[in-house]
Amino acid sequence: MPQTADPFFEPYDRKDIAYGDAPTAAIAAFLDQIECGGTAIDLGAGAGRDTIALASAGFQVTAVDLSSRGLKRVRERAEAAGVEKLVTTKEADVREVDLPQNSIDALIATTVLDHIPAADAKRVWQRMTEALTDTGMLFVEVHTTEDPGSDQKPGCDSDAPISETAGAVVNYFRPNQLARWAVDPSSRLRVLRYEERQEWDCTHGPEHLHGKAILLAVREGFYPPWFGQPAAFPRVDS
Ligand SMILES: C[S@@+](CC[C@H](N)C(=O)[O-])C[C@H]1O[C@@H](n2cnc3c(N)ncnc32)[C@H](O)[C@@H]1O
Repeated sequence: MPQTADPFFEPYDRKDIAYGDAPTAAIAAFLDQIECGGTAIDLGAGAGRDTIALASAGFQVTAVDLSSRGLKRVRERAEAAGVEKLVTTKEADVREVDLPQNSIDALIATTVLDHIPAADAKRVWQRMTEALTDTGMLFVEVHTTEDPGSDQKPGCDSDAPISETAGAVVNYFRPNQLARWAVDPSSRLRVLRYEERQEWDCTHGPEHLHGKAILLAVREGFYPPWFGQPAAFPRVDS
């Protein structure tokens, strides 16, 4: 793909790679608490911060993205972390990737369902929920209309700085939209965590504000030992 066609080429080409090294906090909390393994897919994996965390926790991970530069960084990072045998990269559109039913133990989509049109996002979501195994975990994060890059209220009324990559976001989620998807009986999910919030991002370009919705869920009927994020009354080691 020519560099100009990939809006993420330059952010992933930098020495300080866009979005940093740290995995998404809710995914890291889940991986810290739950014994993990099996197959994982990271949709819109970017440069792989979540992919590497999943592989380091023992998952066999497929990182899917349109950005060949991002996927090259994923392979470099996997090698540096010693998990290259657990990581496969796939340059593909998330709308076309194969998601066989009841086959994937961890399904991640950290800010990609908002990079495709709304009808496509709903179809990918449905295929994700069908692909989850009975002991599976699903994590989705999306930009919301609270984001200052949104053309809808309240984001469009904000004076806060907008992300350098906001042009790639085409589908800002409405309040409670992702929550409604998650609790729809057809999704067959049990929600562990749902939050709508703002966040400052200083990992790429000029510091900017985001509006986000995040969802962490498992298959209904699955009760892993999850103590929340943050866990209530954590023990303090003396
Ligand atoms: C905001 S970045 C997030 C990257 C990564 N998930 C993270 O949080 O570090 C969005 C990513 O989605 C990818 N993307 C956008 N549309 C896509 C599509 N239709 N299929 C696959 N990847 C896509 C972009 O190339 C980019 O790497």
